[in-house]
Amino acid sequence: MHKNIGSALALYPTPLVVVGVMAEDKPNWVLVGHLGIIGHDRIMVSLAQPHYTNKWIKENKVLSVNIVSEDILKEADYVGSVSGNKVDKSGVFEYYIGESGAPVISKSPVVMECSVDDIYETPNFESFILKIDNTYVYENCLNENGKIDYNVLKPVLFEFPTYSYLKTGEVIGKCLKLDK
Ligand SMILES: Cc1cc2nc3c(=O)[nH]c(=O)nc-3n(C[C@H](O)[C@H](O)[C@H](O)COP(=O)(O)O)c2cc1C
Repeated sequence: MHKNIGSALALYPTPLVVVGVMAEDKPNWVLVGHLGIIGHDRIMVSLAQPHYTNKWIKENKVLSVNIVSEDILKEADYVGSVSGNKVDKSGVFEYYIGESGAPVISKSPVVMECSVDDIYETPNFESFILKIDNTYVYENCLNENGKIDYNVLKPVLFEFPTYSYLKTGEVIGKCLKLDK
C-alpha cells in the first residue's frame, strides 16, 4: 500500500559529477548530483544560483562534466564542501584543457566537454542545458565496439535523502531481452 508523503525529491540515485569551469586563468571545480539527460545529445546540471561556478559558466559558456569514479571520490567530496567564493580549489585535480577550452580532470575516466545551450531558472537555481561537444574516455573503459563500459567504469552514485555515496551494482538483465 502506498503512502503519499507529499512533494518529495525522490529521483535517486543519480550519477555524481564534478563540473569544471575556467575562472579566468585557473579552474574551479564543483560537485553536482542533480543532473539529467535531455534527448540524445544534451544533458543538464542544476546549480544553486549563489555558487561561484555559475558566474563563470555564464561568462565562458563552456564547461566539463567529469564522472566521479571511486578513485577521485575524496577530492570530489572536498570540492562539494567549499566554495570558490572563499577557497582556491584550482589545485585539487590534475587537469588539461579540452578542445573547447574547458578544464578536464585527468583522473576522471569519462568527461563530457559541453557548451551552454540554455539556462532554465527556478527560485534560487540555475539549471544549465548543455550540448555535448567532446567526450574524453579512458581507453580501458571502452568495449570492443568502442562504447563506454560502465562495468569497468563503476561510476559513484549519489543519494540526497541520506546524503550518501553508493557503489554501482551488478547487471541484472539486458534491456528488452529479459525473457531470453
Ligand atoms: C554529494 C554532493 C552533491 C552536491 N550536488 C549539488 C548539486 O547538484 N547542485 C548544487 O548546486 N550543489 C551541489 N552540491 C553543493 C556544491 O558542490 C557546493 O556547495 C560547492 O561548495 C559549491 O562550489 P562553488 O561555489 O565553488 O561553485 C553538492 C554537494 C555534495 C557534497
